[in-house]
Amino acid sequence: MKILAIETSCDESAAAIVEDQDFRPVILSHVVASQIATHASTGGVIPNIAARMQTEALPHVLREVTKDQTLSYDAVAVTVGPGLIGSLLIGVAAAKTIAWQQNIPFFAVNHLEGHIYSAWLTPSSVEGIAPLLPELPALIVIVSGGHTELILMERHLHYRHLGQTRDDAAGEAFDKVARLLGLPYPGGPAIAELAKHGDRQAYKLPISLMEKDNLEFSFSGIKAAVAHLAAELGDPLSEHIKADIAASFEHTVAETISRKTVAALRQNPGIESVCLVGGVAANQYLRRHLEQAVVTAQPKIAFITAPFQYCTDNAAMIGAAAIHHHLFGKPDNWYDAVANPNLELS
Ligand code: KG4
Ligand code: ZN
Repeated sequence: MKILAIETSCDESAAAIVEDQDFRPVILSHVVASQIATHASTGGVIPNIAARMQTEALPHVLREVTKDQTLSYDAVAVTVGPGLIGSLLIGVAAAKTIAWQQNIPFFAVNHLEGHIYSAWLTPSSVEGIAPLLPELPALIVIVSGGHTELILMERHLHYRHLGQTRDDAAGEAFDKVARLLGLPYPGGPAIAELAKHGDRQAYKLPISLMEKDNLEFSFSGIKAAVAHLAAELGDPLSEHIKADIAASFEHTVAETISRKTVAALRQNPGIESVCLVGGVAANQYLRRHLEQAVVTAQPKIAFITAPFQYCTDNAAMIGAAAIHHHLFGKPDNWYDAVANPNLELS
């Protein structure tokens, strides 16, 4: 089955055509139009501007993704939540219209499920060698702008929540610390760039909720600690100090996520793979640090990260999730589907 997937949950307008080939999602076409440049000028996403820009961008994105006349699709999928309601509505309305007008199956996808299935988008880089796909049970580490969560996936489309953040998500912490350091939005890539020139041990920042067996996260403490540190070190901060703060912050976040992941592995024997997904999974330092921690703790477990370009919001991951709905579940009725900004992953 070839699925046209649409993702408009926040500030990216994205579409992709994804096909199942031997139980694996393969991307035939994909387009992402980002609003980053607009939101950089305001320091963050303003919901009504994001929604208006979705209405402008999505028709172009849909035209672009289907411009190869030889490409067809036989189902449509869309993110129905969680996200910004105004942005979600645009994609959901478009997908429903396509399903109705072309009389094709419709798949309603949870945005987090999309991030999870981005781990199945590994390309087969070498001819004849099968790509490394996650084996189940898998421990999913979702680190995005809105979520930080450990999920145990024993079967396809079944998610057991092991622990999540009590306050800020990891991406949110990156964005807020970036703002404290006077860096542009989005903060993640800006911090990562600056951190390359800093000393990771320069400042000791707090790791929250470190009691044994606690799989929840909290990133408000580290954000407050950076705010205190920045105030203490004076204004303006030198580039050298900023780099040291960025490097220490990035290290502490990576260490927090690694310790929680290893604790979850210890508590749940039999896990075959660990999958790091979500916007913050684009962070190279985190990818290396977590892989090292997992391999050291349990050398037989496969460590899989979503391919770099599919970590942040995109529609290929929504297509990948929809392919698994097709393989292991069933389509949804388009007329029952509603955009839900607070949709839970069940
Ligand atoms: O998954 P995503 O695109 O959107 C949500 O679903 O939230 O994640 C966006 C988040 C932002 O907070 C951004 O700062 C962060 O991912 N991010 C990064 C990097 N690239 C994006 N954080 C750390 N390092 C990066 N390289
Ligand atoms: Zn996302």
